[in-house]
Amino acid sequence: MTCHITFEPSGKTIEGSAGQRLWDLAIKAGVNIATVCGGIGDCGKCRVLIETGRETLDPLTSIELAHLSEEERRAGYRLACATVVPPAASHLLVRVPPQSEVSAGRLQVESVNVKVRPDPATKKYVVTLREATLEKATSLEGRLLAGLGERGLKHFGLTYSAMLNLASFDRDQNSLTCVVHDDKRVIAVEPGDTTKQCYGFAVDVGTTKLAGFLIDLATGEVEAVASTLNPQISYGEDVMSRVSYSMGGADRLSALQKGVIGGINELIRACCARSGVKPGNVYEVCLVGNTCMSHLVLGISPKSLGFSPYSPVFRNGIETEAGQLGALLQVNSAAIVSVLPNIAGFVGSDNVAAQLAVKMAEPESEKLLLMLAPSAPHLAEELWARTGRPYSIHQQAWPIYDDELAADEMVTVVVQVNGKLRDRLTVAADASEAEIRELALASERVRASLNGRDPAKAVYVPGKLLNLVV
Ligand code: FES
Repeated sequence: MTCHITFEPSGKTIEGSAGQRLWDLAIKAGVNIATVCGGIGDCGKCRVLIETGRETLDPLTSIELAHLSEEERRAGYRLACATVVPPAASHLLVRVPPQSEVSAGRLQVESVNVKVRPDPATKKYVVTLREATLEKATSLEGRLLAGLGERGLKHFGLTYSAMLNLASFDRDQNSLTCVVHDDKRVIAVEPGDTTKQCYGFAVDVGTTKLAGFLIDLATGEVEAVASTLNPQISYGEDVMSRVSYSMGGADRLSALQKGVIGGINELIRACCARSGVKPGNVYEVCLVGNTCMSHLVLGISPKSLGFSPYSPVFRNGIETEAGQLGALLQVNSAAIVSVLPNIAGFVGSDNVAAQLAVKMAEPESEKLLLMLAPSAPHLAEELWARTGRPYSIHQQAWPIYDDELAADEMVTVVVQVNGKLRDRLTVAADASEAEIRELALASERVRASLNGRDPAKAVYVPGKLLNLVV
């Protein structure tokens, strides 16, 4: 019998059959239930309340008996990963209580924009094809490469995807745009002039959150930003539970990859809709994350990270085509997907990206590293050593602050009349007593309090207080 399962408070419904776990059905329905153990019955986090159909369920399992209190059992709580759809049920109403919900919290994507001079690996060039004649029946590929050569662009080759594009055009289509990568490969060919539409997508693949940035590759401008929870959170909240879940078989590894790619697609759709960019005009996707996330997003098993000495499968960066990824990334199918290099252990490419952004190797980054040291001692030491500085960061002097730079530019001065607060003035930090007195006498609230009387005396505490005495 088919059973309709409704998850509240989201209202999401899914059809299940006897023997399927509520936990698996929740994931399928897009309902995130908290878990640390990845659904193996260890953490007890996946409590759900069965509001309808409780009487049809199998008795509580030993795992549930170990995790649920007497009171919870009486109230109808079950563990989603230990409860299966019973053969006799046609409808189950399952409430995910607040403590079992994975909350998005606040997903911060605001940041300081680091100005970079655009030097994209992917560029577009318009090429005019010479006409083919019976005497000189050169291939389309040859005419395209000759057109690029006339523009001084030599030694290119066409990828299979570009060949497919080329084969699909009308015979009279002579003006084409070549999308070239690394000044080596033509990865796509488009009819007409599309040089103005050339975008890249950068993603920070966090264990909990994903943040995506749509970038105009010609100008370097960020066109749109979006963020969402990493859908893999349904399989475990931390890196080790994801590693352990992935070790359960190829289908589990694939589910983790599809989950994160689905989240990235959500970001791509949101950013493209917001900026009016077509996803097909995104030709580069750059992904960074901790080492485990770098593996999972590429569909590479991270199992070697689960055991000492926690060595990854790869450390160098990886480049592939979007169409090769194993899960469909909704950008141009010829887009180049790159994952930056990892550092070591779980310190991954997100760290490399941060180092590049703040120019960690430059002398100015020294103070930044010193200030990082108390809160992230191991990471700071590692970065300190990697940037060729002498051992140890924890033996260096604390940075001295610059009085001038640390000084406030504006201050608030309290204005009193006969000792009673009448107004507050925000003035330049270097404003003189005379200037502040003039501003105070112009204040309506102070004038009302003076009631036409001239102050006989003024007491001034620099940058803090002015007391007018009448
Ligand atoms: S006990 Fe951990 S997910 Fe169910």
